[in-house]
Amino acid sequence: MSCLLRRRLILIRRAFIDDLDDIVRIENCSFNDPWSAESLAAEFERPFSKIFLFTESVSEGEDKDATPKILAYIVVWLLCPEGEIVSLAVDPPYRDRGIASALIRHVLEIFPNICWALEVDTLNIPALRVYEKCSFTRKRRIKNYYGNGRDAFLMTI
Ligand SMILES: CC(C)(COP(=O)(O)OP(=O)(O)OC[C@H]1O[C@@H](n2cnc3c(N)ncnc32)[C@H](O)[C@@H]1OP(=O)(O)O)[C@@H](O)C(=O)NCCC(=O)NCCS
Repeated sequence: MSCLLRRRLILIRRAFIDDLDDIVRIENCSFNDPWSAESLAAEFERPFSKIFLFTESVSEGEDKDATPKILAYIVVWLLCPEGEIVSLAVDPPYRDRGIASALIRHVLEIFPNICWALEVDTLNIPALRVYEKCSFTRKRRIKNYYGNGRDAFLMTI
């Protein structure tokens, strides 16, 4: 766990439409083929879509009115009894600090008794590591899932 995570109070909260610009910013620097701002905005309208943010709170001694910086987001679809992690990204300077794992574990905890699934690029080593740390296992390979010959693993809990 990094110094940053030890020093500061970390908050995970539901996202609101006012958070869209930050979500789009992280999306754009995380994916070669990012969702558009319109697609991300549409997620707020879908009753089965839930978006959570990992934010950094203000430390003791800092300006208490400062807006906590948004460090990461996760989008999940809840179609009970099934659930899917449909998007997850961490702001690049804040990666490898356990943030994605914390977001996933939060979602798994607050939505229990769900059969979770996701698709992940077979070459995305950090994402595979995160999902396996969070108890997802590789169910099968989906050939050419992303086009251009890129395969995905279907992972489930
Ligand atoms: C994938 C992603 C969400 C992970 O976020 P994160 O907050 O860095 O994840 P965590 O810190 O919880 O865990 C990352 C793990 O990957 C490991 N890792 C990172 N890069 C690695 C590499 N090149 N090789 C092997 N392991 C690697 C880290 O060491 C860590 O594992 P550890 O805890 O056992 O040390 C982040 O890299 C990201 O936003 N990537 C771009 C968007 C993306 O690919 N999203 C997933 C779509 S399915």
